[in-house]
Amino acid sequence: MKLAIIGTGYIGLVGAAVFADWGNEVIGIDIDLKKIERIKSGDMPIYEPGLSELVLNNISAKRLDFTTSLPKGIKDAEVVFICVGTPQGDDGSANLNYVWSVAKEIGENLDEYKVIVVKSTVPVGTNERVKEIIKENLKNNVRFDVVSNPEFLREGSSIEDMQNTDRTVVGYDSERALKVMRKLYSSIESPLVECDLRSAELIKYASNAFLATKISFINEIAQLCEKAGANVQTVAKGMGLDKRIGNHFLNAGLGYGGSCFPKDVAALYKTSTDMAYDFKLLRSVMEVNHRQRINYVKKIEYSFGKNLSGKTVACLGLAFKNNTDDIRESVAIKTIRIIRGLGAKIKVYDPQAVENAKNDLGLSNVEYTKNAYDCVKNADALCILTEWEEFKLLDYKKVKSLMKGSKIFDGRNLLKQDEVEKLGFEYFAIGKISNGLDILDEERPVYAILRNGRRQKNK
Ligand code: UGA
Repeated sequence: MKLAIIGTGYIGLVGAAVFADWGNEVIGIDIDLKKIERIKSGDMPIYEPGLSELVLNNISAKRLDFTTSLPKGIKDAEVVFICVGTPQGDDGSANLNYVWSVAKEIGENLDEYKVIVVKSTVPVGTNERVKEIIKENLKNNVRFDVVSNPEFLREGSSIEDMQNTDRTVVGYDSERALKVMRKLYSSIESPLVECDLRSAELIKYASNAFLATKISFINEIAQLCEKAGANVQTVAKGMGLDKRIGNHFLNAGLGYGGSCFPKDVAALYKTSTDMAYDFKLLRSVMEVNHRQRINYVKKIEYSFGKNLSGKTVACLGLAFKNNTDDIRESVAIKTIRIIRGLGAKIKVYDPQAVENAKNDLGLSNVEYTKNAYDCVKNADALCILTEWEEFKLLDYKKVKSLMKGSKIFDGRNLLKQDEVEKLGFEYFAIGKISNGLDILDEERPVYAILRNGRRQKNK
């Protein structure tokens, strides 16, 4: 099939490459000429495993091309995808300006029947408005349909996610468009959820908000575990084996970040208040997510007698999660800002996100290092802020010998507690009793674990 994809961000670029790989003829459209030139030369604007090869293979097979011209790009397409960004507006709502302007341009240039598919994450009612805008801008009386087809891929595993999706959602209001969508996804084995436009839009938000809720829930359990002398990883494992709960998204840590969860939870909350509904649970999900990093920093502060001034803190991780260079709404960066604000000198390292972070964090009181070992050199404390596999595999004996201090604050529960404690580290994780917990003053847990491993109830 002939497809046009407007927007070469995460969803658009990966979508273009995967649809082409399925045998379609795809044109990716973006107003940014430099970006298009980079992509065509195989230099991807985002770090995504396997993407460069997939793009180049499909360009050379003549199934994939890119252009900056929307009229030219959509001319022969049967299906036109809108994959532009919907960033968070000041009031929490999704900013839909890019969607509206693309809809207008599609309307102005439509000269035969096409299915217009909205893949961007958009609030309830957006697809209906897109339809109106296209109609208002038509030059002649040509027919078209609008379909909602939200995307569920994750950064870092997006190609695999798109190829092996759990489900494909198609919101439609015309049988003709549904037939086209069924043909497009005919090679996919997972279920096609065929529904009305509004339900399709809500499925996307409800899914992201539910996953964010799972993370905030386990982070609350983690706080409780620290007070009760339990281990959140053991609790999560025991919970996750129940098929009704499932073991995904139960990793306690510093909270969720990225370009989707924070924005989408806020937008769903805004949608509900706009509809005069107080979605209390979502408010708590956001509050808990914020509190998680505050509690983490408190732990670091207390362990240094509430004075971080002049201390050197080595921070491993800048990206919002592993396998990406994306730092949007990165909790790692938000946490570093708080620690820096308390007077500490920061050293940072990330396998992919250093360049992006430089623009965000700046240079004041931050030293960017080339590898993890340089980062930890002479540090008083080590903070693990992003769940990169590389940080798990470091030689911690070497890390210990390079550091000045011996405290590790593992914000992602990456390390094996026994092993690092044996090397002489004071290890603080999330939702576990640490060998250094008795340092905490104001926030003493109900149980303090003695160094001989016995548990003593605080008086
Ligand atoms: C998320 C969804 O998982 C995708 O299904 C969706 O398509 C995408 O948003 C989107 O709307 O475009 P993504 O933002 O790439 O994908 O990242 P996730 O892997 O979901 O992680 C989000 C955040 O949650 C990260 O900061 C991660 O560190 C954190 N997380 C994740 C946890 O703290 N604990 C977990 O158990 C899982």
